[in-house]
Amino acid sequence: MAPFRESIKRIARSMRTCEEWLELIRDLEEPIITARAPVGLELRWAHKGDLFAINALEGFVKETDFMEASLRKGDRCLVLEDDGGICAFAWVTFRDFRLALWYTLKLAPGWSYLVYIFVHPAYARQGIGSYLLGALMESLREGDYKGVISGMYNNWEASIGLHKKMGFRIHRRLSQCKILSILPTPPTEEAGSGNIADQSR
Ligand SMILES: CC(C)(COP(=O)(O)OP(=O)(O)OC[C@H]1O[C@@H](n2cnc3c(N)ncnc32)[C@H](O)[C@@H]1OP(=O)(O)O)[C@@H](O)C(=O)NCCC(=O)NCCS
Repeated sequence: MAPFRESIKRIARSMRTCEEWLELIRDLEEPIITARAPVGLELRWAHKGDLFAINALEGFVKETDFMEASLRKGDRCLVLEDDGGICAFAWVTFRDFRLALWYTLKLAPGWSYLVYIFVHPAYARQGIGSYLLGALMESLREGDYKGVISGMYNNWEASIGLHKKMGFRIHRRLSQCKILSILPTPPTEEAGSGNIADQSR
């Protein structure tokens, strides 16, 4: 190969940053270990009036109107409330979910997608995320759902730990690269199976 073309390729390679998106699945027919309910916190389904507070916890990354429309279309959000304030939530959808411009997660009948689970930092590491996710999985199973999918970047350690603890397994890995952090290139897929503990690092 001509030296010029080779050096251009080398420069392009050095400008690429890649990140890995993990897609995890949880078979709801497997046993669900439910954690003890956190003392003083109330578990309930979110309604329209909660959406601003949930959006604030998430850092206003969405429009509250969009969230309201999602609830109308059947999404559900389980919240934990402490003295009138929401301190944690888990949002789940039952419709295909657009994760990126080029990638829409298709949900088979009976499957759900955990859009986001969040615990306010003041309540972190007290078992609240485990309790909330366990309660959500129980309720999905009662609703005859057979599985839940979740997704996260491979450096989201807390989230990976939580999902691993709650019995999720890696289903596949999607690698997305960017040139100069601005030009995304479509993801390449690498199948994965087995426990997160074996495959996440
Ligand atoms: C992920 C998150 C929901 C966990 O909530 P939590 O209430 O702190 O979780 P728990 O106390 O139930 O911990 C469950 C497991 O998660 C892991 N974990 C939680 N926080 C962790 C941290 N800071 N570092 C490493 N692992 C962590 C541990 O494996 C833990 O199990 P252990 O306590 O037996 O060691 C919370 O950290 C959060 O909201 N993070 C920001 C949002 C996010 O990343 N959401 C996930 C998107 S998919």
